[in-house]
Amino acid sequence: MSMLTVAMPKGRIFDEAVGLLRKAGYNLPAEFEASRKLIVDVPEENMRFILAKPMDVPTYVEHGVADVGVAGKDVMLEEERDVYEVLDLKISECYLAVAGLPNYEKKHDLNPKVASKYPHLATRYFKEQGEQVEIIKLNGSIELAPLIGLADRIVDIVSTGRTLRENGLVELEKMMTITSRLIVNPVSYRMKDERIDEMVERLLQVVEGDGG
Ligand code: PRP
Repeated sequence: MSMLTVAMPKGRIFDEAVGLLRKAGYNLPAEFEASRKLIVDVPEENMRFILAKPMDVPTYVEHGVADVGVAGKDVMLEEERDVYEVLDLKISECYLAVAGLPNYEKKHDLNPKVASKYPHLATRYFKEQGEQVEIIKLNGSIELAPLIGLADRIVDIVSTGRTLRENGLVELEKMMTITSRLIVNPVSYRMKDERIDEMVERLLQVVEGDGG
Protein backbone atom coordinates (compact mmCIF):
# COMPACT_ATOMS: atom_id res chain seq x y z
CA MET A 1 0.00 0.00 0.00
CA SER A 2 1.55 3.29 -1.09
CA MET A 3 1.96 6.09 1.43
CA LEU A 4 -0.49 8.97 1.08
CA THR A 5 0.42 12.55 2.00
CA VAL A 6 -2.55 14.77 2.81
CA ALA A 7 -2.34 18.58 3.03
CA MET A 8 -4.76 19.88 5.63
CA PRO A 9 -5.77 23.52 6.14
CA LYS A 10 -4.96 24.82 9.61
CA GLY A 11 -7.66 26.96 11.20
CA ARG A 12 -11.43 26.91 10.84
CA ILE A 13 -11.77 24.09 8.33
CA PHE A 14 -9.34 21.80 10.12
CA ASP A 15 -11.65 20.31 12.79
CA GLU A 16 -14.44 19.64 10.32
CA ALA A 17 -12.04 18.05 7.83
CA VAL A 18 -10.55 15.82 10.56
CA GLY A 19 -14.08 14.88 11.69
CA LEU A 20 -14.96 13.89 8.14
CA LEU A 21 -11.85 11.71 7.77
CA ARG A 22 -12.61 10.00 11.08
CA LYS A 23 -16.19 9.34 9.98
CA ALA A 24 -14.77 7.85 6.79
CA GLY A 25 -12.94 5.35 9.01
CA TYR A 26 -9.45 6.86 9.09
CA ASN A 27 -7.91 6.19 12.45
CA LEU A 28 -6.41 9.56 13.37
CA PRO A 29 -4.76 10.07 16.76
CA ALA A 30 -6.78 11.90 19.44
CA GLU A 31 -4.05 14.52 19.94
CA PHE A 32 -4.12 15.40 16.24
CA GLU A 33 -6.13 18.60 16.74
CA ALA A 34 -4.20 19.84 19.77
CA SER A 35 -0.74 19.27 18.36
CA ARG A 36 1.49 22.07 17.09
CA LYS A 37 3.31 19.71 14.80
CA LEU A 38 3.22 20.61 11.13
CA ILE A 39 3.89 17.08 9.93
CA VAL A 40 1.94 14.29 11.58
CA ASP A 41 2.66 10.71 10.56
CA VAL A 42 -0.07 8.15 11.03
CA PRO A 43 1.74 4.86 10.38
CA GLU A 44 -1.37 2.74 11.10
CA GLU A 45 -2.95 4.26 8.01
CA ASN A 46 0.30 4.67 6.09
CA MET A 47 -0.52 8.36 5.86
CA ARG A 48 1.31 11.59 6.48
CA PHE A 49 -0.53 14.84 7.15
CA ILE A 50 0.96 18.23 6.53
CA LEU A 51 -0.71 21.16 8.23
CA ALA A 52 -0.58 24.23 6.01
CA LYS A 53 -2.12 27.68 5.75
CA PRO A 54 -5.43 27.23 3.88
CA MET A 55 -4.32 29.42 0.97
CA ASP A 56 -1.19 27.28 0.52
CA VAL A 57 -2.85 23.85 0.35
CA PRO A 58 -3.27 23.88 -3.48
CA THR A 59 0.41 24.87 -3.84
CA TYR A 60 1.60 21.81 -1.90
CA VAL A 61 -0.70 19.59 -3.93
CA GLU A 62 0.25 21.13 -7.29
CA HIS A 63 3.94 20.56 -6.55
CA GLY A 64 3.25 16.97 -5.57
CA VAL A 65 4.68 17.17 -2.05
CA ALA A 66 1.15 16.32 -0.98
CA ASP A 67 -0.89 13.79 -2.98
CA VAL A 68 -4.24 15.15 -1.87
CA GLY A 69 -5.51 18.12 0.10
CA VAL A 70 -8.53 19.86 1.53
CA ALA A 71 -9.10 23.37 0.18
CA GLY A 72 -11.97 25.84 0.21
CA LYS A 73 -13.55 26.71 -3.13
CA ASP A 74 -12.56 30.32 -2.41
CA VAL A 75 -8.90 29.31 -2.27
CA MET A 76 -9.25 27.22 -5.44
CA LEU A 77 -10.74 30.16 -7.35
CA GLU A 78 -8.06 32.52 -6.09
CA GLU A 79 -5.06 30.25 -6.63
CA GLU A 80 -6.06 28.53 -9.91
CA ARG A 81 -3.57 25.70 -9.36
CA ASP A 82 -3.06 22.75 -11.64
CA VAL A 83 -4.82 20.15 -9.48
CA TYR A 84 -7.92 17.99 -9.81
CA GLU A 85 -10.91 18.94 -7.72
CA VAL A 86 -12.48 15.53 -7.16
CA LEU A 87 -15.07 15.89 -4.42
CA ASP A 88 -17.22 18.55 -2.79
CA LEU A 89 -16.83 17.69 0.89
CA LYS A 90 -19.76 19.95 1.74
CA ILE A 91 -18.11 21.12 4.95
CA SER A 92 -17.35 24.63 6.23
CA GLU A 93 -20.13 26.16 4.18
CA CYS A 94 -20.01 29.92 3.91
CA TYR A 95 -20.30 32.42 1.07
CA LEU A 96 -18.39 35.15 -0.66
CA ALA A 97 -19.92 38.59 -0.64
CA VAL A 98 -19.27 42.20 -1.49
CA ALA A 99 -19.83 44.31 1.61
CA GLY A 100 -19.52 47.94 2.60
CA LEU A 101 -20.83 50.70 4.81
CA PRO A 102 -24.65 50.92 4.98
CA ASN A 103 -24.69 54.29 3.19
CA TYR A 104 -22.53 53.07 0.29
CA GLU A 105 -23.82 54.18 -3.11
CA LYS A 106 -22.19 52.83 -6.22
CA LYS A 107 -23.23 55.78 -8.36
CA HIS A 108 -21.37 58.23 -6.14
CA ASP A 109 -18.21 56.16 -6.12
CA LEU A 110 -15.81 57.97 -8.46
CA ASN A 111 -12.69 56.06 -7.56
CA PRO A 112 -13.95 52.63 -6.49
CA LYS A 113 -11.56 50.70 -4.27
CA VAL A 114 -12.22 47.17 -3.07
CA ALA A 115 -10.15 45.44 -0.38
CA SER A 116 -9.85 41.67 -0.36
CA LYS A 117 -7.58 38.75 0.40
CA TYR A 118 -8.78 37.35 -2.95
CA PRO A 119 -7.36 39.84 -5.50
CA HIS A 120 -7.65 37.54 -8.54
CA LEU A 121 -11.12 36.35 -7.71
CA ALA A 122 -12.29 39.90 -6.97
CA THR A 123 -10.73 41.25 -10.18
CA ARG A 124 -12.53 38.58 -12.24
CA TYR A 125 -15.82 39.24 -10.48
CA PHE A 126 -15.85 42.97 -11.10
CA LYS A 127 -14.70 42.50 -14.70
CA GLU A 128 -17.67 40.17 -15.24
CA GLN A 129 -19.91 42.82 -13.71
CA GLY A 130 -18.47 45.38 -16.13
CA GLU A 131 -17.23 47.55 -13.28
CA GLN A 132 -13.76 49.00 -13.12
CA VAL A 133 -12.34 48.97 -9.61
CA GLU A 134 -8.98 49.15 -7.92
CA ILE A 135 -8.34 46.02 -5.85
CA ILE A 136 -6.32 46.42 -2.66
CA LYS A 137 -4.88 43.16 -1.37
CA LEU A 138 -4.99 42.60 2.38
CA ASN A 139 -4.12 39.47 4.32
CA GLY A 140 -6.87 39.50 6.93
CA SER A 141 -9.21 41.68 9.01
CA ILE A 142 -10.58 42.89 5.69
CA GLU A 143 -13.58 44.50 7.42
CA LEU A 144 -11.23 47.18 8.71
CA ALA A 145 -10.73 48.68 5.24
CA PRO A 146 -14.09 50.51 4.79
CA LEU A 147 -14.09 51.58 8.44
CA ILE A 148 -10.88 53.54 8.10
CA GLY A 149 -11.33 54.67 4.50
CA LEU A 150 -8.82 52.41 2.78
CA ALA A 151 -11.48 51.01 0.44
CA ASP A 152 -15.19 51.60 -0.12
CA ARG A 153 -16.10 47.95 -0.35
CA ILE A 154 -14.65 44.55 0.48
CA VAL A 155 -14.87 41.07 -1.02
CA ASP A 156 -14.76 38.54 1.76
CA ILE A 157 -16.10 35.34 3.26
CA VAL A 158 -19.25 35.55 5.34
CA SER A 159 -19.95 32.68 7.69
CA THR A 160 -22.20 33.71 10.58
CA GLY A 161 -22.30 37.36 9.49
CA ARG A 162 -21.10 38.40 12.92
CA THR A 163 -17.93 40.18 11.79
CA LEU A 164 -19.90 42.35 9.36
CA ARG A 165 -22.60 43.11 11.94
CA GLU A 166 -20.25 43.94 14.78
CA ASN A 167 -18.35 46.32 12.55
CA GLY A 168 -21.43 48.07 11.21
CA LEU A 169 -21.01 46.79 7.65
CA VAL A 170 -23.69 45.39 5.36
CA GLU A 171 -23.73 42.85 2.62
CA LEU A 172 -24.16 44.49 -0.79
CA GLU A 173 -23.96 41.52 -3.18
CA LYS A 174 -23.90 37.79 -2.54
CA MET A 175 -21.33 36.27 -4.88
CA MET A 176 -21.31 32.49 -4.37
CA THR A 177 -21.56 29.66 -1.88
CA ILE A 178 -18.27 28.20 -0.74
CA THR A 179 -17.54 24.70 0.59
CA SER A 180 -14.35 22.68 1.04
CA ARG A 181 -13.11 20.40 -1.72
CA LEU A 182 -10.87 17.35 -1.91
CA ILE A 183 -8.11 18.10 -4.39
CA VAL A 184 -5.60 15.73 -5.96
CA ASN A 185 -2.23 16.04 -7.67
CA PRO A 186 -2.63 14.73 -11.26
CA VAL A 187 0.52 12.56 -11.14
CA SER A 188 -0.41 11.11 -7.75
CA TYR A 189 -3.81 10.25 -9.17
CA ARG A 190 -2.10 8.08 -11.76
CA MET A 191 0.54 6.57 -9.47
CA LYS A 192 -1.61 6.03 -6.38
CA ASP A 193 -4.99 5.61 -8.02
CA GLU A 194 -6.13 2.77 -5.78
CA ARG A 195 -5.47 4.64 -2.55
CA ILE A 196 -6.96 7.87 -3.81
CA ASP A 197 -10.03 6.20 -5.33
CA GLU A 198 -10.59 4.44 -2.04
CA MET A 199 -10.35 7.73 -0.15
CA VAL A 200 -12.78 9.44 -2.51
CA GLU A 201 -15.19 6.52 -2.20
CA ARG A 202 -15.06 6.49 1.60
CA LEU A 203 -15.48 10.25 1.86
CA LEU A 204 -18.28 10.24 -0.70
CA GLN A 205 -20.21 7.76 1.41
CA VAL A 206 -19.93 10.03 4.46
CA VAL A 207 -20.80 13.17 2.49
CA GLU A 208 -23.85 11.54 0.89
CA GLY A 209 -24.80 9.74 4.08
CA ASP A 210 -25.01 13.09 5.85
CA GLY A 211 -27.70 14.07 3.39
CA GLY A 212 -25.42 16.83 2.15
C1 PRP B 1 -13.06 35.24 8.07
C2 PRP B 1 -13.57 36.23 7.04
C3 PRP B 1 -14.39 37.19 7.85
C4 PRP B 1 -14.95 36.30 8.95
C5 PRP B 1 -16.36 35.92 8.62
O1 PRP B 1 -11.94 35.78 8.67
O2 PRP B 1 -12.50 36.84 6.35
O3 PRP B 1 -13.56 38.19 8.39
O4 PRP B 1 -14.13 35.13 8.99
O5 PRP B 1 -16.93 35.10 9.61
P1 PRP B 1 -18.31 35.48 10.31
O6 PRP B 1 -19.29 35.82 9.21
O7 PRP B 1 -18.70 34.23 11.04
O8 PRP B 1 -18.07 36.64 11.22
P2 PRP B 1 -10.97 34.94 9.61
O9 PRP B 1 -11.55 34.86 10.97
O10 PRP B 1 -10.66 33.65 8.96
O11 PRP B 1 -9.71 35.83 9.75
P3 PRP B 1 -9.06 36.96 8.87
O12 PRP B 1 -9.92 38.18 9.04
O13 PRP B 1 -7.71 37.16 9.47
O14 PRP B 1 -9.01 36.50 7.46
